[in-house]
Amino acid sequence: MLKGRSLIDPMDFTIEELEEIFSLADNIIENPKEYLHVAEGKILATLFYEPSTRTRFSFEAAMLRLGGQVVGFSEPNSSSVSKGETVADTIRIVSCYADITAMRHSKEGAPKIASMYSEIPVINAGDGGHQHPTQTLTDLLTIRKMKGSLSNFTIGICGDLKFGRTVHSLIKAISRYENNRLVLISPKELTIPEYIKKEILEKNNIEYVEAENLEDVIDGLDILYMTRVQRERFFNEEDYIRLKDSYILDRQKLDNAKDDMIILHPLPRVNEIDYEVDEDKRACYFIQAKFGMYVRMALIAKLLGVC
Ligand code: CP
Repeated sequence: MLKGRSLIDPMDFTIEELEEIFSLADNIIENPKEYLHVAEGKILATLFYEPSTRTRFSFEAAMLRLGGQVVGFSEPNSSSVSKGETVADTIRIVSCYADITAMRHSKEGAPKIASMYSEIPVINAGDGGHQHPTQTLTDLLTIRKMKGSLSNFTIGICGDLKFGRTVHSLIKAISRYENNRLVLISPKELTIPEYIKKEILEKNNIEYVEAENLEDVIDGLDILYMTRVQRERFFNEEDYIRLKDSYILDRQKLDNAKDDMIILHPLPRVNEIDYEVDEDKRACYFIQAKFGMYVRMALIAKLLGVC
C-alpha cells in the first residue's frame, strides 16, 4: 500500500511496489486522457531550496496533468526561509495547505527531517550529494522501456561518482535486480563513496569494476549513464576546472560501443556529451526526461491513493 507514504530513499519501496508505479506509468503513457481528473481537488507543494529545471517542472506538469493544482517556491528567499524558518516548521505549515509535497534541498537529510514532521507524503526531489530517488524512478522506467527489463545488464556509470546523487540512488536501486554488473568510470578524485561500495555493492555481492578510461570499457556496456561534474559540490574552483572535462562522449568513442547500447544522462549536461551524439539512435536522455514526468504522475497518484 503506497497511499500516504513518503519517498526519501530509493530503498523505501519494495521491488513489487516499484513495479506498481512503473505499471501505472505505462498505462498513463498509453492512455493519458483517462488520468486527466484523478487528482482533482488535490494540491502538490513544490519546495525547491536548490535550482532545478527537470525535477520541478516535471513534478508540476505531472500534478497538472492529473487534474491537481500546484503551490510552492523555486527560490527559498521568496519564502519565510529567508527569515530563518526551519525545514520542520515549514513542512508543518505546508501540511496545512497541501496534500503532498516534493522537496529539494542542498542539505543531505533535509527531506527526511521534513517527513518526520509532515502530515502529508514527502518526496525527496534531491538532497545535496546524497540521493535523488525520483530520478532513479525515471532511470529505471527508461531502462525498462528501452531495454525491456531491469536485469542482466552491464551498466557503465561515468563522471562524478563522488558527488552525483543520481548515481548513488541508481546504484542502490539497480543492485536489487538480478545479474547486473557495474562499471564505475571516474577520475580517482571522484570515485564512488566507500559507504556505497561497502554497504550496497559488497554487501549484496554485486559485481563491479572501477575504471578511469571510458574508451577502455565502452565496448562491453549495455547501458552508459553519463553524469556531469557537480560544480556546486566542490570546495574549490581549481579542482572543478581541472576535472570538469574528464569525459566527453563523442561520435568517435561511440564507434566501439554496442549497436543496442543506450545512453542515459539525468541532465543537465555541460560538456560531457557532444551535441553530435544527440542524433545517434542510442541517445535516450531526452526521452528519459519525458519518462520522468510520467513516472512522477504515477508516483503522485499512488501516494495520494487516487489510482
Ligand atoms: N535531473 C535533474 O535532477 O535535473 P534538474 O536539476 O534540472 O531538476
